[in-house]
Amino acid sequence: MALGAAALLSTVLSATWPVQAQTPIVIKFSHVVAADTPKGRAAEFFAKRAGELTKGRVKVEVYPNSQLYKDKEEMEALQLGSVQMLAPSLSKFAPLGVKEFEAFDLPFIFDNYQELHQVTQGAVGKAMLAKLEPKGITGLAFWDNGFKSFSSNKPMHKVEDYKGLKMRIQSSKVLDAQMRAIGVVPQVMAFSEVYQALQTGVVDGTENPHSNLYTQKMHEVQKHLTVTDHGYLGYAVVVNKKFWDGLPVDVHKALDQAMTEATKVANDHARQLNEEALAKVKASGKTEIYTPTPAERLALKKAMAPVHKQMESRIGAETLQAIYKETGFDASKL
Ligand code: LMR
Repeated sequence: MALGAAALLSTVLSATWPVQAQTPIVIKFSHVVAADTPKGRAAEFFAKRAGELTKGRVKVEVYPNSQLYKDKEEMEALQLGSVQMLAPSLSKFAPLGVKEFEAFDLPFIFDNYQELHQVTQGAVGKAMLAKLEPKGITGLAFWDNGFKSFSSNKPMHKVEDYKGLKMRIQSSKVLDAQMRAIGVVPQVMAFSEVYQALQTGVVDGTENPHSNLYTQKMHEVQKHLTVTDHGYLGYAVVVNKKFWDGLPVDVHKALDQAMTEATKVANDHARQLNEEALAKVKASGKTEIYTPTPAERLALKKAMAPVHKQMESRIGAETLQAIYKETGFDASKL
């Protein structure tokens, strides 16, 4: 076909086809973990349901494993509108100026998922997400990952065993304080760089929920894992506010529904995925897994407890008290 005729045909088609048939609304959803993790699976599920519920008007493209952006870059990309949706861990919001999110990093703040959900699925969580709005970000949901373990190339049984270890942390001042409380030298690093840093000895160890450790193959370069459950790692699913506010009402409604369903998928399966990951680490035979005695765990808890008070003014006493009220946490009882 001659070039002129092709151009004419394309003009005629674009004038007559329904708009949605030609131009689906694309949502780029970038994240830094593997597809087979709680976040990766929930993102895929959201993409599928968003497509189904909008009958193809919305196409969610999921980019896992830091394929598009690393930690810090993805937050900037969201604000600039280069991607529309992310689910960064809660530790990664403070650099935006929303320090309240670092409350989730406080050691031993939640004893279990139930206590955590009192916060994330209730009024306190809702108020926290609202704090993102002035940053041009709309918070849609909290997704779980799980409770963290320490890994390194040395056995970690007693509090003294951690002293002098260099460990990778996420960009959170609370995690920095938590590590210093037990004599660990913390080093902030993007998630995508951790495996190599462990392999080459740039850092000695790190902390992770088991699904992250296993899917990044960190167990292959860490000889010891101590199942401490000393802290929580979870996510806020966020969108670029301008993009979100500009969506047609019916699309909005469908995406809200898809997000409600995806949140259920994330939160119903996170625990199981982490348990499976731990079993796989064990089966690999590469990492020795240690479960601290109740006394050892209590000693760790006591050593880290002062971090709550130290970080109170940074996080905000009001936010902290609201969380404690939901969970019944009482540092003075340690
Ligand atoms: C990390 O950097 O360790 C985590 O935030 C990665 C993630 O998204 O789970």
